[in-house]
Amino acid sequence: MRSPHRPSTFRRFIVAALLLTLTIELLPESITRAFWVGHLTGATSWGRKHDINKHPIDAQIQTAENESAAKLSKSTRTLAAAAAAYRKRRGRHPPPGFDKWYEFATERDAIIVEDFWDQIYQDLEPFWGVQPAKIRKDARDFDMRIQIRNGKASTSSDWFWTQIWLDMIQTIEHLLPDMDLALNPMDEPRVMVPWEEIDVHMKKAAKTRRIVDVESVVSSFSTLPLSEEAPQDHSDIPPVQWEHDKHYWLIARRGCPPNSPARQAQVITDFDKPPYIASPFSLSLTHMEDGYVANYTLSTDFCHQPDLQALEGFFVEPISVSATKSLIPVFGGSKLSRNNDILLPAPIYWSEEERFFGAEGASIPWASKHKHPSAIWRGVATGGRNRETNWRAFQRHRFVAMNNATILAAQEAKPPPPNFALPDRRYALPTDDLAGWIADATDVAFTELACSHEGFSPSCNYTALYFSPAQGVPMAAQFQHKYLPDIDGNSFSGRYLGFLRSTSVPVKATLFREWHDARLVAWKHFVPMDTRFGDWWGILGYFLGGEGRDRIGEGIALAGREWAGRVLRKEDMAIYVLRLLLEYGRVIDERREVLGWVGDLR
Ligand SMILES: *[C@@H]1O[C@H](CO)[C@@H](O)[C@H](O)[C@H]1NC(C)=O
Ligand SMILES: *[C@@H]1O[C@H](CO)[C@@H](O)[C@H](O)[C@H]1NC(C)=O
Ligand SMILES: *[C@@H]1O[C@H](CO)[C@@H](O)[C@H](O)[C@H]1NC(C)=O
Ligand SMILES: *[C@@H]1O[C@H](CO)[C@@H](O)[C@H](O)[C@H]1NC(C)=O
Repeated sequence: MRSPHRPSTFRRFIVAALLLTLTIELLPESITRAFWVGHLTGATSWGRKHDINKHPIDAQIQTAENESAAKLSKSTRTLAAAAAAYRKRRGRHPPPGFDKWYEFATERDAIIVEDFWDQIYQDLEPFWGVQPAKIRKDARDFDMRIQIRNGKASTSSDWFWTQIWLDMIQTIEHLLPDMDLALNPMDEPRVMVPWEEIDVHMKKAAKTRRIVDVESVVSSFSTLPLSEEAPQDHSDIPPVQWEHDKHYWLIARRGCPPNSPARQAQVITDFDKPPYIASPFSLSLTHMEDGYVANYTLSTDFCHQPDLQALEGFFVEPISVSATKSLIPVFGGSKLSRNNDILLPAPIYWSEEERFFGAEGASIPWASKHKHPSAIWRGVATGGRNRETNWRAFQRHRFVAMNNATILAAQEAKPPPPNFALPDRRYALPTDDLAGWIADATDVAFTELACSHEGFSPSCNYTALYFSPAQGVPMAAQFQHKYLPDIDGNSFSGRYLGFLRSTSVPVKATLFREWHDARLVAWKHFVPMDTRFGDWWGILGYFLGGEGRDRIGEGIALAGREWAGRVLRKEDMAIYVLRLLLEYGRVIDERREVLGWVGDLR
């Protein structure tokens, strides 16, 4: 394999080029982008803001180190300190039962950093703008439910996810107030309230956010009857409307602010041609810096990225859609940044199935992993319902094509064959011979083409022209490879936790949010990738660029594994859910504004 990194010739080039830099900065974006040929060799970003010898990824890794250290330094070691950190960050007293929660967490050696629970507050805050009786009613009216009464959790649903969630909640049931939990049985999230309405709820919620006088605080939750009657003043609320429009972008974008690119951009309805893909250097991609993801949280939001409407199957045609505009409390395992579902750890994570964890291979030493290929991906061609007229908009198809030497070589023809739109390779090439290089560096293939609709199954003639399904590779065997790209399927990718717990590096591209997001630091515990994948070749080129870089990769693999062992254990999931459900128990309680735990202040 050729070394993708050639610093010395490049250095000479820089000296001459530096003189031009100032002028270039003044040119239009299209021209400046073409000028950043430094990315061809992997050493670049000079003249902007970083050290001339540094690759932009070096800067991201340095920032991540700092962010991670700063986060850890906020950890608290006493109940009083945890309560103080709570009040400071949340603007309310902790919920009743906070002392029991703290005890539960510390008995299980949890690291207590208040920020780790941020997701709970993002999810629940709008509900402070909804009447408690209405939230309870909406939960009761939902088909799939877990009921908690008198410290016991139960369900009448035998759906296997409900059973797994029940098993999870039973580990903490004795600490929970009475409640009904509505559970999403689907892969796809359910609730997408228009931004304007969330704004109203958030403003109402803000008015309730205060530190109540200690004397006025009530410290015990209300109890609920076994099946509560609908209160009079809500019997006129019409039942929740469910929408089944398969073009999910139309549903998704209403969660974005009115002036956002997602709301303003023209809606694409023709997916029967190669889509437009914004360059990783586009100034509109505010989550990118010098071609790589600099703000991972922002990278998973879509409101500033309207081209994603034709680059992610979920926006084009999910397998199933059942969505509502009403702010109702539905719990589920993953969601888009703008969905209003309430996140629980996904059942896949609680059940720790070998298929998704490959625990047997998870501790293979870095040094004994394969030299070639360095990256592996296997998966089904999911992402939604792919059809002859839309598959070009599917992320997994794009990713597999980007790792196919034949397809890459064909793309060099002028004009390229009209079948694919791949990210522009000029800005991220680790080598002149991308096709040859990729053949050596990666092993990426579908295991099934997944055309389930009538007339096409199982032949899938429209994608079979370009892709050949390969043998699946068990997770434990995938861990023989150093880099593990992780791409969204029909919704989030359930192998992520298994990847994090392994000694390989997860390279994560997603639009889905999960319970654990606030406790992971991109470039420290995993490598973030843009959902267009325009940075993929550059990422791989960086890590395969010599022994020093290989050690950096090993560092991320081990840091992710070590961290997952401290903050992503099943114990941590239970601790998260206990905190979540104490908060949920409060927000559905008629006395919620005065409910709190103030044991440290009395
Ligand atoms: C990281 O922290 C070190 C030490 O506090 C500081 O010198 C450095 O500038 C920081 N780097 C970044 C990228 O924030
Ligand atoms: C990342 O983006 C989010 C959302 O826009 C923003 O709130 C946050 O401050 C950004 N983080 C950094 C480190 O810039
Ligand atoms: C695939 O098969 C369908 C149904 O038999 C046919 O209508 C279509 O033209 C075929 N497409 C290609 C690309 O071969
Ligand atoms: C790579 O692309 C060629 C041409 O499209 C195709 O025949 C081959 O099956 C592809 N390989 C894989 C693993 O999909």
